[in-house]
Amino acid sequence: MIRVALLPGDGIGTEVISAACTVLDAAAARFGFSWQGEHFDLGAERYLRTGDTLPDADFRRLRDDHTRILLGAFGDPRVPSNIQAKDILLGLRQRLDLYVNLRPVRLLDPRLCPLRGTPSIDMAVVRENTESVYVGIGGSLRPDTADEVAQSVMIATRPACDRLLRHAFELARRRRGVLTLCDKANAIPEAHGLWRKSLAAIRNEYPDIQARTLYADVAAMRMVTHPHEFDVIVGDNLIGDILSDLAAALVGGLGLAPSSSLHPGRHALYEPVHGSAPDIAGKGIANPMAAILSAAMLLGDEGSAATAQAASAIEQAVEDAVRAGATTPDLGGSLGTAEVTARICAALDAAPATPWVPAHA
Ligand code: NAD
Ligand code: IPM
Ligand code: MN
Repeated sequence: MIRVALLPGDGIGTEVISAACTVLDAAAARFGFSWQGEHFDLGAERYLRTGDTLPDADFRRLRDDHTRILLGAFGDPRVPSNIQAKDILLGLRQRLDLYVNLRPVRLLDPRLCPLRGTPSIDMAVVRENTESVYVGIGGSLRPDTADEVAQSVMIATRPACDRLLRHAFELARRRRGVLTLCDKANAIPEAHGLWRKSLAAIRNEYPDIQARTLYADVAAMRMVTHPHEFDVIVGDNLIGDILSDLAAALVGGLGLAPSSSLHPGRHALYEPVHGSAPDIAGKGIANPMAAILSAAMLLGDEGSAATAQAASAIEQAVEDAVRAGATTPDLGGSLGTAEVTARICAALDAAPATPWVPAHA
């Protein structure tokens, strides 16, 4: 039994996680595995009702009773401080030490690419998920005066650079063998210089991988002009955040971008890269594909034959729907969230039955 903690969160988070659960049900029925979700009531609604963001009891249940989390999005205009997103989303990444944020993008249909021609785009952003300016160290002086001073401290530690880069090198080995570290070591020689030191040391362990560094501004430009050059893209928490939205835009946008946040061997959190999209929340038109592909990443990480087959069948069903134009408006289609979800479930029901051979057989 695959147990999953479900944190739908705010806005379209609830809509896309409900869709992902429907697809998990269809995949389980078709490919012969069982799964069970435990719902966590966390987010803006609860915060407005009770003042709670991530109470200790919920955190302990997530940490001790679960290894997999499927999350929607956090952010609500009624909570301008964004405190629930900070405590829950960034809080879980920090407190569960989910140091790898993996954000793969692949062009499923050339029509979705805003670039000229038909470039081949298949890249994965590996974002450090616990440090940089996200650590919350800093403060304000003379707040709300004309002389206000604000400070946010950027942290890089050698162990965090090393473990993230090793993970990225291993991933590059399973992909096309090219790794690009993106940083601003020219402007931030201390924190981002440390990334380069770490790369210089670790690349010797991976002589088969072509590793290079690019300044992040140039990287942003080359991702647009030469996207095929990129395979594994490594960045700190801030650079990785920005480049992952850019990467998503190359293949159709946030509605198609899944992610995982991992502490390998301990916890894994799966979530769409997009946010709570208050502009379309409640309208039934949110693209569920990023959340559905995040659920497929969860299944792919399970390691059984049934879940591996289910993961690739879901990816195929999404790709087929995209190519057929059976999509929500963000991808140019005219379907709603429920219709896209139903189509993907129908494709799974009809997916070829491959016999399930256990890995140890
Ligand atoms: P967003 O990703 O929510 O939306 C950006 C744009 O993309 C919007 O126009 C939105 O309609 C569109 N969009 C996003 N996902 C879509 C989908 N699945 N289908 C169709 N269109 C989609 O980013 P934002 O507007 O900058 O942020 C809104 C809130 O979400 C903020 O509070 C922000 O802090 C939060 N946020 C949360 C996460 C997260 O929980 N992981 C990530 C990003 C932003
Ligand atoms: C993401 C989001 C978050 C981040 C925000 C909501 C704090 O943009 O998950 O990419 O910056 O990590
Ligand atoms: Mn982001």
